[in-house]
Amino acid sequence: MKVLIVGSGGREHAIAWKIAKSPKVDKIYCAPGNAGIAGVAECVPIAAMEFEKLADFAKENQIDLTVIGMDDPLVGGIVDLFEQRGLRVFGPRKNAAIIEGSKVFSKDLMKKYGIPTGAYETFSDAGAAVKYLETSEYPIVLKADGLALGKGVLICNNFEEAREGVRTLMLDKQFGAAGDSIVIEEFLTGPEVSALCFCDGTAIKTMTSAQDHKRAKDGDEGLNTGGMGTFSPSPFYTKEVDEFCKKYIYQPTMDAMKKEGRDFMGILFVGLILTPKGPRVLEYNARFGDPETQVVLPRMKNDIVEVFEACIDGRLDTIDLQFEDNAAVCVVLASDGYPEKYERGFAITGLGNFDGKDDYFCFHAGTKFDAQGKIVTNGGRVLGVTALGADLKQARANAYKATDWVEFDNKYMRHDIGKAIDEA
Ligand code: GLY
Repeated sequence: MKVLIVGSGGREHAIAWKIAKSPKVDKIYCAPGNAGIAGVAECVPIAAMEFEKLADFAKENQIDLTVIGMDDPLVGGIVDLFEQRGLRVFGPRKNAAIIEGSKVFSKDLMKKYGIPTGAYETFSDAGAAVKYLETSEYPIVLKADGLALGKGVLICNNFEEAREGVRTLMLDKQFGAAGDSIVIEEFLTGPEVSALCFCDGTAIKTMTSAQDHKRAKDGDEGLNTGGMGTFSPSPFYTKEVDEFCKKYIYQPTMDAMKKEGRDFMGILFVGLILTPKGPRVLEYNARFGDPETQVVLPRMKNDIVEVFEACIDGRLDTIDLQFEDNAAVCVVLASDGYPEKYERGFAITGLGNFDGKDDYFCFHAGTKFDAQGKIVTNGGRVLGVTALGADLKQARANAYKATDWVEFDNKYMRHDIGKAIDEA
């Protein structure tokens, strides 16, 4: 089989690594990929939003399966185009990817179908939003409706901050059209857990749980990022939580999407918060999480290509998803300054230290080859150093040990990824 992956981050490197383990696969391409992905796939210089070019490539190269890693092409309708061209593709169509593409849509869906989530109001008029905020309780959460690189969520501690937030999102348009409408939502407290689920339009199956660390600095301080590290499984995601979520969140979401004529095939990533009153949905994503994927896929026993195919063919119910009874921790090595200003182009050394070590992985996010063929930094998040261990404590110790194996100028990381594990 020939497989094409669309994307270029640590998530796509982990997906490519896992696909490469499938005995069904002879050849993997990734568009556009990165320097690490080039170790398992042939990288193709086509951008993720160049749908026609990607479909032409898939046709010309007789690709048997395309896997879309990123949110933007999914929300933009890449799956619809591939299907129109008769190509086999894993991911939700545009009318289902809206579950991530519009927070107003997803909140209204949850309200309509009684799926547990925080109380909220939606606004497309800044004046009306500010008026509502005058009498709100604080803290409160403002969310841009559309995709905003994970930065469109503002936690406001008082009215002044909230009014400023409305200005940033709706008037200054910091995230463009994503801020045309906003959701104002009650502030919920509790551990946040990422649940990645395979879906075939009717059935939904959860993978093992994971937890992300979104803030840039230790102690959950600093700005929101795409994610500075993850661990799996989450000690907070108990059997009882899983049973509750299956009954009241996962299957009801699938059923709701079907009733709306928006059958969801692909990965549904449910962002949960485990409040004292029970699990609530914070957000949905229509793709694998990044860096959640880097800790979930190394623990997965199944041939992922078989699972992708079962989802496309509507027979996910025949798959018995299985995960190792171990743990994984991923520490993101970033460029100092991320998520704001940072420099690129620094040589990365020590990558060979991961060769031949089955329990250690160095997933590339922002890397590329320079003109001399050396691997250099090329993004805010550069590498995801991941390690397995018998339990979370061991995996954490292993991951931090491995962060010393690789060096580049301006290397920055958090030192408390998975620290909550010790306190759980
Ligand atoms: N790590 C959060 C996300 O992938 O959206």
